[in-house]
Amino acid sequence: MASGARNGGGGLGSRTTAKMDRQQGSTATPKAPAGKPRLSAAGGGAYRRTSSGPLPAAGAGGGRNSSESGVSSRVRVAVRLRPRNAEEQAADADFADCVELQPELKRLKLRKNNWESDTFEFDEVLTEFSSQKRVYEVVAKPVVESVLEGYNGTVMAYGQTGTGKTFTLGRLGDEDTAARGIMVRAMEDILADITPETDTVSLSYLQLYMEMIQDLLDPVNDNIAIVEDPRTGDVSLPGATVVEVRDQKSFMDLLRIGEAHRVAANTKLNTESSRSHAILMVNVRRAVKGRSEMNVSMSAENGHSSSMMDSLRPPIVRKSKLVVVDLAGSERIDKSGSEGHTLEEAKSINLSLSSLGKCINALAESSAHVPVRDSKLTRLLKDSFGGTARTSLVVTIGPSPRHRGETTSTIMFGQRAMKVQNMVKLKEEFDYKSLCRRLDIELDKLIAENERQRKYFDDEIERITAEAQYRVAEAEKECKVSLERMRK
Ligand SMILES: Nc1ncnc2c1ncn2[C@@H]1O[C@H](COP(=O)(O)OP(=O)(O)OP(=O)(O)O)[C@@H](O)[C@H]1O
Ligand SMILES: [Mg+2]
Repeated sequence: MASGARNGGGGLGSRTTAKMDRQQGSTATPKAPAGKPRLSAAGGGAYRRTSSGPLPAAGAGGGRNSSESGVSSRVRVAVRLRPRNAEEQAADADFADCVELQPELKRLKLRKNNWESDTFEFDEVLTEFSSQKRVYEVVAKPVVESVLEGYNGTVMAYGQTGTGKTFTLGRLGDEDTAARGIMVRAMEDILADITPETDTVSLSYLQLYMEMIQDLLDPVNDNIAIVEDPRTGDVSLPGATVVEVRDQKSFMDLLRIGEAHRVAANTKLNTESSRSHAILMVNVRRAVKGRSEMNVSMSAENGHSSSMMDSLRPPIVRKSKLVVVDLAGSERIDKSGSEGHTLEEAKSINLSLSSLGKCINALAESSAHVPVRDSKLTRLLKDSFGGTARTSLVVTIGPSPRHRGETTSTIMFGQRAMKVQNMVKLKEEFDYKSLCRRLDIELDKLIAENERQRKYFDDEIERITAEAQYRVAEAEKECKVSLERMRK
């Protein structure tokens, strides 16, 4: 994070502009890349698209809109209140919740005492009665739609330990389908929208534990490096397992494998406390139908036939990424009762969360320096905050007045995140690999045809030569006979 979000592109302040990325049209209607109809717009309205649309034609020369930096899109933030748990029902029985929600006004009141409260506005306020379906629809669905249209997207949960981040994102809903969390619902929508013959979906599932990135699908792989593309600012993890997903069942199996490998511990505040940040990366690659581009005028100018030009036109693909981040919870060591190794984990979690907080603050204030390199978490989230992704954050809070301090800091984190602007860009590029494959096949055909013709010509030459030799011999014979006749 070298500078504020205003510079656009490259993520968390980087000044780099993605060469192959494409700017969203600023006023036109979004365009679905594949033949199927797009998912319907989410209810709730808080996550309206800022803009998107069909793209202007690419210029000649292969690169696509290299100078465009995208369209500004603010990070959307929802707050979700967890219902009182059994311990709170007993211990806080005589006390009111520390917050009062006004979902219709999208407001939350944080009680200071019996008379006073501070009021905060969010993009969406989700009460303790909000269903998982509604939470998905207002928090994640617009981001998933965006990913299907070719933009990067991030959905992240942030909050104190035990407030429902994993519940919101990672519930599999094995026993009760209504309990399915955002990861499961997002993949259902993605698989329902893609065209299996031309599009592919693949994923990696990782955890960031004690500043090490571990592959949740292959835990032996526990020191994965983050690689940044200096040209585009894109962050990737080439060492991670990437699995192609074709159906929901295989996706659920992968989630189960990942969940089994994720580090969790029983703490005073959460019996199943996540001790690592989990990151699900879903890569969506879609073919853009009926719009392979190349400067058509070249055909006329150079006098090439149109079929030849057709075969030189690279197809267009959209390569977008959905990142779902289930953070480990911040905790006050005295309250969570962490000791020994669990204490070390807590310190590492708190350290990475505090560096995330610093980056969010810097971006919110459009500060000249954003300390993105301070932790792996902030490096991983480079594209999500101040980058090119459409980002939706859900901040989870508990109702207990005993955790008012932690709830306040979570709310303040959410408020600052609402000020972060991303520069959303279409991840569209010419598919030169597939053009190469196509040209290879064409070339092979031409070589075979050439060989066939050469053989035909050689045979013809042989035949004509033989015929000529025969005729010459015949003529010589006739000449000899005539000469002999004349001599007589
Ligand atoms: N909205 C909710 N409705 C009902 N139960 C919930 C809700 N949110 C969370 N819970 C329950 O609260 C407990 C803690 O939730 P969860 O593990 O998701 O917290 P977390 O924020 O991921 O915590 P940590 O940071 O420690 O990992 C779980 O038993 C979960 O089932
Ligand atoms: Mg958790």
